[in-house]
Amino acid sequence: MLIAHLSDTHVRTGPLAAEPAANLHQALGRILSMRPRPDCVVITGDLCEYEYTGVYADLRALIERFPLPIHLTTGNHDSPADLIDTFKGTAFLGATASTTYSVDYPGATIIALDSNRPDSPAGFLGAEQLAWLDDTLAQRPGVPAFVCLHHPPIALGIPFLDGMRLEDGPALGEVVARHPHVARILAGHVHRVIVAPFAGTIVSTAPSTYRQSGLRLHDAEPPGYLAEPTGYLLHQLLDGNVVTHSVVASHAGAVLAGF
Ligand SMILES: [Fe+2]
Repeated sequence: MLIAHLSDTHVRTGPLAAEPAANLHQALGRILSMRPRPDCVVITGDLCEYEYTGVYADLRALIERFPLPIHLTTGNHDSPADLIDTFKGTAFLGATASTTYSVDYPGATIIALDSNRPDSPAGFLGAEQLAWLDDTLAQRPGVPAFVCLHHPPIALGIPFLDGMRLEDGPALGEVVARHPHVARILAGHVHRVIVAPFAGTIVSTAPSTYRQSGLRLHDAEPPGYLAEPTGYLLHQLLDGNVVTHSVVASHAGAVLAGF
């Protein structure tokens, strides 16, 4: 089982639309060139910037040509209602009309959570969604589960971004700790590759396919966003373990497949 983990695509409309769309296309082209090909792709939120009108249609036009399954989660920049309106019933939302869903693969369960809250850039899941997660994890206890959401549930050392992390991270941790088959928490939001232990498992944040955040560890000022190399994570189930590779997509020598 191979899972390609992308994040923070920040696709937009208007005169600045080209760069994030081209960067996402490049990352997907890099994925498609791999052998073996990943079983699926997960994009952990901030799919778009803030302009919702038409942006999800543009995103769909780009990613529905891609031949591997892609599963989407919301971020703080997203609109869950508009996302559902564009992608309901498709594999992008696990064939549901919800931004909270699961997809059963023979080797893994992909679980998407919606941490978007309309009034804040911070994240929140709430009791109802956590109860659904608890029930969903209980249904396939022998299969590794990947819990995907935008906001990291713990502080990661960049104070500005830690100030807008998942607010009910401890409650998520209580659920996850009851299910030792949770192989990873896959998150985004911080636009950097960061790894940390959490509730008996590991949190992995993917880089942005658009721009990376500065490594500003010392105060709560915005970290700034840099044109560092873009890329994604590749999570591989191997001998009962999960190994995570970091893949750079934007360097000039990257092998790209067209789609
Ligand atoms: Fe973002």
